[in-house]
Amino acid sequence: MEEQAKKRIYSAIQPSGMLTLGNYLGALRNWVNMQQEFDCVYTVADLHAITVRQQPGDLRRQILQTYALLLAIGLNPEKSLVFIQSHVAAHSQMAWLLSCYAQFGEFSRMTQFKDKSAKHADNINVGLFSYPALMAADILLYQADLVPVGEDQRQHLEITRVIANRFNNLYPNVFTMPSAYIPKTAARVRSLQDPSQKMSKSDPNPNGWVALLDKPEDIMRKFKRAVTDSEASVRCAPDKEGINNLMEIYAAVTGRTMQQIEDEFAGKGYGEFKTAVGEAVVELLRPIQQRYNDYMNNRDYLEQTYRAGAGAAEAIARKTLSRAMKKIGFVW
Ligand code: TYM
Repeated sequence: MEEQAKKRIYSAIQPSGMLTLGNYLGALRNWVNMQQEFDCVYTVADLHAITVRQQPGDLRRQILQTYALLLAIGLNPEKSLVFIQSHVAAHSQMAWLLSCYAQFGEFSRMTQFKDKSAKHADNINVGLFSYPALMAADILLYQADLVPVGEDQRQHLEITRVIANRFNNLYPNVFTMPSAYIPKTAARVRSLQDPSQKMSKSDPNPNGWVALLDKPEDIMRKFKRAVTDSEASVRCAPDKEGINNLMEIYAAVTGRTMQQIEDEFAGKGYGEFKTAVGEAVVELLRPIQQRYNDYMNNRDYLEQTYRAGAGAAEAIARKTLSRAMKKIGFVW
């Protein structure tokens, strides 16, 4: 395995639709912070996106938008590798290798596969099923030590470890064993309309999720309409999923503890609290939206940056792919 001074971080995000506040608080914010301490590799996972049907024009636009948003939230391409997955062919090549070291039964048990098969019953394609092999390829190609993700990706990280372990037992010293890095607050931001579900851009009710590019008035409206209970005291309790979710969001955005939030809003109603959460989110997103617009107006810079990122990523990925190919016995 490659010797590195700093620990390597790898993570990726799909470009399907608009990025949500859940993506940001659960994962992306950590990506930014980790750049201080670690050697980071971040990817727009465009190959993963075609497991569900995409309109070509929409997909193209969303890939670019997602890349621009990653820069806008504070990923620094001078410091970290930030690129588009399909630009580095080794991801698809490694995914094939790994799929031969993963078991049908293991992949059949993936919650995301079961959920997406139920949602897209007319298109249960093989890519949807073998999705975790591509995700394992992403992570293992870069010898990642830590993978910052939200709670919903934990199972995919576990299967990645199973595959890496199986491969290393057959062919020693090919892959670093990665660990999930899941935040303590906001690991699972919930829908504002149905707090039993995670906040997701595929939610058909747009009031359930906040996009990073939503206008301030839409953000305020969504928080004001957020589903809560009838008790009306800002206090976290196991059965108050709606208010817990809003408190978690407020905690993650302002850095306050749950106790501090309860104290701040003691004797105040839900209306006042929801307004405060909405305003905090608007202020969090304002500078991100400004920078996003600047990047989208500078397509040349974007292209130059994602091409350079892919070039540097390719060099690392090729090395791991080549080692794996040789160990298996290919003439390579
Ligand atoms: P994706 O694109 O669905 O989500 C990107 C990241 O956002 C986190 N996330 C959330 N966190 C908290 N609350 C939520 N409501 C919420 N919704 C999403 C996700 O956990 C994720 O960290 N398969 C991955 C993309 C991927 C990947 C990888 C990730 C491809 N290859 C390799 C890590 C390593 C996905 O679909 O994430």
